[in-house]
Amino acid sequence: MSKLNKQYICQICGTLHSKWSGKCENCNEWNSLLEENVSKPSGPLSKSSGHKIKFEYLKNDTLEYPRLKTNFNEIDRVMGGGFVSGSVTLIGGDPGIGKSTLLLQLVGNLSKMNEQCIYVSGEESLSQIKMRADRLGIKDSNIQFASVTNASDIATTIGSIKTRSVLIIDSIQTMYLPQIDSSPGTVTQVRACAHELIIAAKKSNSILVLIGHVTKDGSIAGPRVLEHMVDTVLYFEGDNNFQYRVLRSMKNRFGPTNEIGVFEMLNVGLKEIMNPSKLFLSDRQKNVSGSAIFAGLEGTRPILIEVQALVMPSSLASPRRTIVGWDTARLSMISAVLESRCKIHLSNMDIFLNIAGGIKIFEPAADLAVAAAIISSVKDVPISFSTVFFGEVGLSGEIRKVNQAELRIKEATKLGFDNIILPSKQKVIIEKNMNYNNLTLLSDLVDLITKNI
Ligand code: TYD
Ligand code: MG
Repeated sequence: MSKLNKQYICQICGTLHSKWSGKCENCNEWNSLLEENVSKPSGPLSKSSGHKIKFEYLKNDTLEYPRLKTNFNEIDRVMGGGFVSGSVTLIGGDPGIGKSTLLLQLVGNLSKMNEQCIYVSGEESLSQIKMRADRLGIKDSNIQFASVTNASDIATTIGSIKTRSVLIIDSIQTMYLPQIDSSPGTVTQVRACAHELIIAAKKSNSILVLIGHVTKDGSIAGPRVLEHMVDTVLYFEGDNNFQYRVLRSMKNRFGPTNEIGVFEMLNVGLKEIMNPSKLFLSDRQKNVSGSAIFAGLEGTRPILIEVQALVMPSSLASPRRTIVGWDTARLSMISAVLESRCKIHLSNMDIFLNIAGGIKIFEPAADLAVAAAIISSVKDVPISFSTVFFGEVGLSGEIRKVNQAELRIKEATKLGFDNIILPSKQKVIIEKNMNYNNLTLLSDLVDLITKNI
């Protein structure tokens, strides 16, 4: 027996409160408590009649799951070599970014490879899905569609499947369990629906993919616990003004994290971009100050990205810092180091920083390229077209080593760059016909740019 208790649950962090308040004591979020009915098991847990569990040895071969390759190189790479049978993946992203399109194309591909695929949409009607499938050229495939929101019905249906299938739920926030007295999208519903669906999918060792909405701050809506319940968390990101989309793994129990896949949104769906560096550099202008190329690394893949800066005198009391694609705190740090260690005056200047192509960079290794773009803009000296940068900047103005320098240099060589600006302590295999500038301090970079590298 279980009895119903009125509880207030924070929709951001999932903490339970016995009474309502305007602010969650745990995460300090305002207005996030919602009344939900929570069933509590009655009676002491020690009396529960559990079954004896069977232990296994890790050397047992049957514990290894085969991976399902999707024919989408970009998705396979992000997943760490394909989807693992019996795994659960959560994919989040802004509305309209292309989650439904991506997964429809994915099952379209898989059904061509004779995989059994099921696509359940709680957001779109069958005629809407049909229109999209028409556009993507997968109308005649053998995907099974349903437009339902009752998670209990879905769980019963997928629980009766005998063979491994690929199951897509679009989206977890639209699903509900009738026995729970809260509306769809609330913490209790999201958690319970995900739990039911995961158990049902695991019975047939199927691959379950849940689409999730993101909140204003960019995290997947619903409790953090949803991210703990799944094996892999992917984010599909990009700027709606750009055609490019990036699929990024944030958590992966079966592969590396921070691996990215790059796509372009066309009128016939998403197209994979095999060589993103080429694409991100394609619109670069010659002889313009304020542009520096960063030899970056996304997961295991090297990628060259243009960092653009525009620095100009400000008419405001607190000058503007407008940043697209990079971290605000890191820009403040770099400008403080430039100001105090290199005597580059920025405190009364507006700084606009843009990572071209709509991609977001998280690596501290981009510090040197950002500093170079700022110096180049302040001094109005263009940086040579064949120069790339990587290196982390410390608070005392020192330039620190970064990981995987060889991979970065190889990518730069491949794309015709021949001048590498890197930390002095970085050990690299020297490639022929390449010029290396090893820097110890950020002030060395100012000298180098002023001398017109
Ligand atoms: P969608 O997959 O519905 O986004 P999500 O599920 O993340 O909300 O993508 C919708 C957007 O993509 C919409 O603005 C139209 C655009 N789109 C294309 O540009 N080309 C296409 O072939 C398709 C199917 C969609
Ligand atoms: Mg959608």
